[in-house]
Amino acid sequence: MSKKSQKFEGDPKTTGHSWDGIEEFDNPMPRWWLWTLYATIIWAVGYTIAYPAWPMINSATAGLLGWSSRAAVAEQIAAVEEGNASINNQLVEVALTSIPDNAELDTYAVSAGGAVFRTWCAQCHGSGAAGAKGYPNLLDDDWLWGGDIEAIYNTVAHGIRNEDDEDARYSEMPAFGRDEILEPEQVDQVVNYVMSLSGTPQDASKVAAGAEVYADNCVSCHGEDGTGDREQGAPNLADAIWLYGGDYDTLTATVHGSRFGVMPAWTSRLTEAQIRAVSVYVHQLGGGE
Ligand code: HEC
Ligand code: HEC
Repeated sequence: MSKKSQKFEGDPKTTGHSWDGIEEFDNPMPRWWLWTLYATIIWAVGYTIAYPAWPMINSATAGLLGWSSRAAVAEQIAAVEEGNASINNQLVEVALTSIPDNAELDTYAVSAGGAVFRTWCAQCHGSGAAGAKGYPNLLDDDWLWGGDIEAIYNTVAHGIRNEDDEDARYSEMPAFGRDEILEPEQVDQVVNYVMSLSGTPQDASKVAAGAEVYADNCVSCHGEDGTGDREQGAPNLADAIWLYGGDYDTLTATVHGSRFGVMPAWTSRLTEAQIRAVSVYVHQLGGGE
């Protein structure tokens, strides 16, 4: 049974619809509002014709204006590169060693190099460049291949032990245990000797025998006093700074099976200016020579 709804004096007309006795006032939208709505609809349709919008099977409609977000980014990048072109040219032309003395160039190289480092180097060397096991710390003054700016540049440009660059730095420590160059007993002795070099607690009864094994097998690369050889990227074993680790088990694994740290070459991936910039950046991090 439907109730008759109440009506008051001055109520607008109803639309004539009624649901369970509830009726709807006929209040049309204000004209200005309606026209604004129509205008936005027309604008939207025009917009989707002018700009990429409608999804198609493989891509979307290109839009009459030919605009694309990719092209817009490329344009912005090109504008920045053009803005930096003259300082990049300067960076490429001057002698590497003179860059730190040129304040303007140095500031630019450090900031551009920092950006390169965070993009391309941080995944291996850490965002703060402190490294990790097998990835050297670039903040200290302990260098495998040399810490002056030219040495750093060569390392970065050509990489280490990679197969892509003929000029990559290369050396190979023998796998003394795996290839049966040394008996397990001799490995044990020489590891204890290596620990003694940096004052790491060791089995002192094995050190003398270990010193002999060292003299016969390790001096050619790590040096008589264990301080290493940068020509061969052979680490300093006497400074208690370890690339792979200085505890007995890690040292035994290193001497037994050797290590083969690989770093990619960057000449094919970065511009000369970027390689120079990141070399300057690494050089000024703290341990540059
Ligand atoms: C895929 C990992 C990886 C990436 C990426 C990488 N490196 Fe390396 N880097 C290494 C390894 C591993 C070594 C040590 C190799 C060895 O044992 O001699 C190394 C060594 C170095 C050294 C020599 C340190 C020394 O003590 O002589 C420098 C300098 C260096 N990297 C800079 C960079 C810069 C700059 C970048 C970015 C453009 C970069 N690396 C990117 C893995 C990487
Ligand atoms: C042909 C040169 C060569 C000889 C010989 C050699 N090494 Fe090495 N050694 C290297 C190189 C190069 C590395 C670095 C490998 C890398 O970075 O991947 C290394 C790394 C090491 C490390 C790792 C150091 C760290 O910081 O973690 C230890 C320990 C070591 N050698 C001990 C020895 C001992 C002990 C001998 C002798 C039994 C020896 N090496 C003989 C070249 C040599």
